[in-house]
Formats: sequence, C-alpha cells, structure tokens
Amino acid sequence: MRVVLGITGSIAAYKGLIFSRELYKRGIKQKVILTYSALKFIKPLSFKSITDADVYTPKDFFNSNLHIEIARWGDVLIVLPASANFISKLANGIADSLLLSVSIAFNKRIIIVPAMHEEMWDNRFLRENIEKLRMHGVEILGPTYGMLSSGEYGMGRMVEIDEVLDYLFRETKKVLLIYGRTEEPIDDVRVITNRSSGRMGYLIHLALENKGIYHDIVVCGNVEFVPKRQYVKIYKTIELLNFIKESITKYDVLIMPVAISDFVVNKKEGKLHRKEGSINLELKPNIDVLAELSKFKNSTIFIGFSLESRENLEVSSANKIKEKNLDYVVANTIESIDSENITGFIMDKNFNKIFEFENLDKFELAKKIVNLI
Ligand SMILES: Cc1cc2nc3c(=O)[nH]c(=O)nc-3n(C[C@H](O)[C@H](O)[C@H](O)COP(=O)(O)O)c2cc1C
Repeated sequence: MRVVLGITGSIAAYKGLIFSRELYKRGIKQKVILTYSALKFIKPLSFKSITDADVYTPKDFFNSNLHIEIARWGDVLIVLPASANFISKLANGIADSLLLSVSIAFNKRIIIVPAMHEEMWDNRFLRENIEKLRMHGVEILGPTYGMLSSGEYGMGRMVEIDEVLDYLFRETKKVLLIYGRTEEPIDDVRVITNRSSGRMGYLIHLALENKGIYHDIVVCGNVEFVPKRQYVKIYKTIELLNFIKESITKYDVLIMPVAISDFVVNKKEGKLHRKEGSINLELKPNIDVLAELSKFKNSTIFIGFSLESRENLEVSSANKIKEKNLDYVVANTIESIDSENITGFIMDKNFNKIFEFENLDKFELAKKIVNLI
C-alpha cells in the first residue's frame, strides 16, 4: 500500500509526524504533503529525520505535473490532521494548493481525519461539507470527544493514531515474514547455527514492499541481510515459537524462509575453556516449530520452506505438507543455501508442483512467492 499523507494547519500537525513514523516502521511507502499552514507547526526536516518519506511543501506546487504524479502514485490518501479549511475546500472542488490539487485528482480511497476546536466542528457549513464528502465515498474518521488543545473538553479531538492505523489496515492482507537462522547456545558465548544468509527472506521482504503488501518481519540470528525498517530480532527457536503463537492470529499469511536449528545442546553456564580438554556435546532434537503451529492452525496461510538434497526433495516436501499442515512448501536443494540462485519447486497442499525452477535468481522466486498471496 502506498500512502499519500496530507498534513494541514492544525495544532495536531505533530500527530501527522507520529503517524508518518508509524507508517515508516511498518515499511509503508509514503509521500507527505505539508500545507503552507502546516509548515507553521511542523518542519519537513522532522519527516526527513525519522521517516523515509518524500516530503513536499507549497514550493513544489508548480513543479510541472507533480500533483497528477502523486495522485496516480498513491493507493490511499489520508489527510491527518484535516483542518476545517481543507475539508470545506475539498468538498467544493477547490484546488488552490498542492495538497488540494492532489486530493481533487485522487480517484482512489480518501480518508479524512479532522482535528479542530469544538466551535469550528459545530459550524453548519463545515458539517454540510463533511456530509457532502461522505456521500461521495470519502471516509471520515472522527473527530471524537476529549481534551482539546486549549485544555478544554469537547468534540473535535483527533481520533488516536492507533485507531487510524487499525482502520487503515483492517481490510488489507497482513503477512508475517520470518527469515534468517536460529541460534542455539552451547555456552554463554558460543552457538550452534547454520549458513543461511537471510538473502531469500530479505528478497521476499523487497517483493512484498514492491507490491505494497503489509508485512511485519522477524529476523532470526545475525544474518547478512537485514531490512532497513523496523523488525523483531529473535535468536532461539523456543523464543521464535512463543512469538509466533502469541501473534499469529493477527496475520493472514505466514512466510517462513527461516533455517531453524534441528538440534539443541544442554547449555553450559559461562564460557567453556580449552584447558578443560575435549568435551562431548550431546545434540538433542529441537522443537519442530511448524509442527507445533499446525496444532492450532486456523485460516492463516502457511508457506514453509524445505531444504534437502535433490533426490529427497519431493518426498520430504510432501511429508512436510502432510505433517505440518502447510498450504505451500518452497522446496530447494542444499546448493541453494547462501547462494544468489535457487533450484527446486513450489508444491501446493494437494501435492502439485505448481512452479519448478533451476538456478533461478532468488528475487524472481521471491516475486512468485508473493504472487501466491
Ligand atoms: C494556533 C492555531 C491552531 C489552529 N488549529 C486548527 C485546528 O486544529 N483545526 C483547524 O481546522 N484549523 C486550525 N487552525 C486554523 C488553520 O490553521 C487555518 O484555517 C489555515 O488556513 C488552514 O490551512 P490549511 O487547511 O491549508 O492547512 C489553527 C490556527 C492557529 C493559528
């Protein structure tokens, strides 16, 4: 989802900055437009410092066809906070600023989040204009009753940012992407892990981002490829399982190109020393995350990965689907680990190989996987 965020001249303009930051944390691409009045309250530098948004101000207004370009680019236009002035101008087709020109040209979803003093909100012309916008499919969120900037209580307070986020993402598919490699401690400084670089998962993240699909990311272990946005870092398998159990109901799709350690050892406290002589590490089978998750699988689509030698790939993928109740398995051969290319196939839950690939660029496969959603 690509968001065009308009910010108008309200004392609540700083909330536009917080909202923009929240979009950034979720990896949402955004273009921010500040009105002339918004600039009295908040500066472009703030956005440039804490988000990766493209920021536009009134000086960009007559920059060729920018208003059309921005309107075509966005999937949704959110004006937060929206001033009485902006609302009434929009309802009457006025386009005398960059934000209004973009809004008038915007033929997709528009969400308006008003914020103003109660006396302004009560104005009958404004209210007529609000109804007019609503009638034409513009979504109006709030305002609500609460403390206003003056310290008084009344109607006109902007709805909370969390509510806007919930509203915005309510109908979008949400993906949880988990990639990397788990680490199981041997002692307080050493771990058992594997050679997974995180490249496949990182490329799936880029493919999701390109398609504007909402996704949260868990990166396991210290892999080379990490996203340039917020993500959760997890090391141990048990912590990963607990995290997924707690959060899975929030997601429609789980994609797991993660190399989970098959074995754990009894961790020793402190640091093992060479002078202690040879030591035997007893490798015990680790918990099977996907098998555990399959016990309470509901409507979430599970896309698992299977890394095996070529001759075992088909049987082990089919078993994985059966035993772990997966919707898809992306099967790949051992040579694919830590490589730019990948060989294998995607198998669906009816054991059909729906896509076979030989030495395919991992980004091409990432796009195919994202298309399954
Ligand atoms: C201190 C101050 C706070 C303001 N707060 C609001 C507000 O919360 N909501 C609003 O609709 N107008 C508010 N205004 C008035 C708008 O800034 C004014 O109508 C302006 O023309 C809006 O321009 P814009 O819609 O292009 O951003 C405020 C004005 C000042 C001076």
